[in-house]
Amino acid sequence: MKTLNIIGSGRVGRTCGGLWAKARVFEIQDVLTRSRASAGEAVKFIGAGCAVGRLDEMRPADVWMIATRDDAIVPSCAALAGSGKLVPDDIVFHVSGATPSSDLGAARECGALIASVHPIKTFTDAGQASRTFSGTFCSAEGDREALKVLKPAFEKIGAKVFGIAVELKRVYHAGGVFACNYLVALIEAALRAHEKAGIPRAASLEALEPMVRETVDAIFEKGPARALTGPISRGDVEAVRRQLAAVREWDRGMAELYRGLGLLAVALAETDARLDAARAAELRAALSAR
Ligand SMILES: NC(=O)c1ccc[n+]([C@@H]2O[C@H](COP(=O)([O-])OP(=O)(O)OC[C@H]3O[C@@H](n4cnc5c(N)ncnc54)[C@H](OP(=O)(O)O)[C@@H]3O)[C@@H](O)[C@H]2O)c1
Repeated sequence: MKTLNIIGSGRVGRTCGGLWAKARVFEIQDVLTRSRASAGEAVKFIGAGCAVGRLDEMRPADVWMIATRDDAIVPSCAALAGSGKLVPDDIVFHVSGATPSSDLGAARECGALIASVHPIKTFTDAGQASRTFSGTFCSAEGDREALKVLKPAFEKIGAKVFGIAVELKRVYHAGGVFACNYLVALIEAALRAHEKAGIPRAASLEALEPMVRETVDAIFEKGPARALTGPISRGDVEAVRRQLAAVREWDRGMAELYRGLGLLAVALAETDARLDAARAAELRAALSAR
């Protein structure tokens, strides 16, 4: 069994470490975080490994997982490379979607193989994430020989691994930001509009919930174009024009959001042949008015 050292063991490090230990995929060896105390908690959660307080206490390992926050990946990798612990063909990988594996260049200069495997999942806490990890899609890119080890390691804990081009990694990750983070921001925009119209947030959330859930179900059942309803999908130009004016009067930032998303909705409705080219052009003109 290959040995694994973990640098940064919060939600993702603990979840993967614990699942690998349980499935006997890797021998979890040393775990480093910002404090020995939190490394100790991580080891307790994982159920294997030794907590260390400093990089120089870590033993050599076949595989090194860097699961720090994104902004600590490059310095952590540089420190690892500078420690002299890496030998050729060691594998160093991170789990960030926003960062390419090439950010591990310092490890490659030591002869290590580098990669990134990014789980498309929200890890709110390690306990919950461990119970629901199986079935998670993970994008993977990096050195072929590293992926030969990492792909099966993730698959053995239930992941569905697919390849991604390293140069498109940041755009790929924006997809997750739109679908997950900005969905939350969009609901916040809806709550603020309701609040402006005198509906308290709690009542608004209650009122929106069935519609939002039905819409999400429809997206996955029928696809985005068929799930689209409302004035744009009906080609109701005047309603869109008046609504944009009302939103702009209330809040110019919200009006910009309304315009940008509206233009995307027009393109979507066109793909479903619900809007002819002339009506789509009228809608675009209405949405482009500033
Ligand atoms: N959370 C998600 O939903 C999610 C999903 C997919 C991928 N990811 C990726 O997973 C990675 C980790 O995210 P996370 O959510 O697990 O973060 P997290 O819960 O905040 O944990 C980060 C861990 O890194 C440690 N750390 C920070 N700086 C360090 C340093 N310089 N040296 C050693 N350890 C350091 C922290 O130490 P302490 O314990 O001492 O604070 C903590 O253990 C990121 O690259 C993120 O993009 C996250």
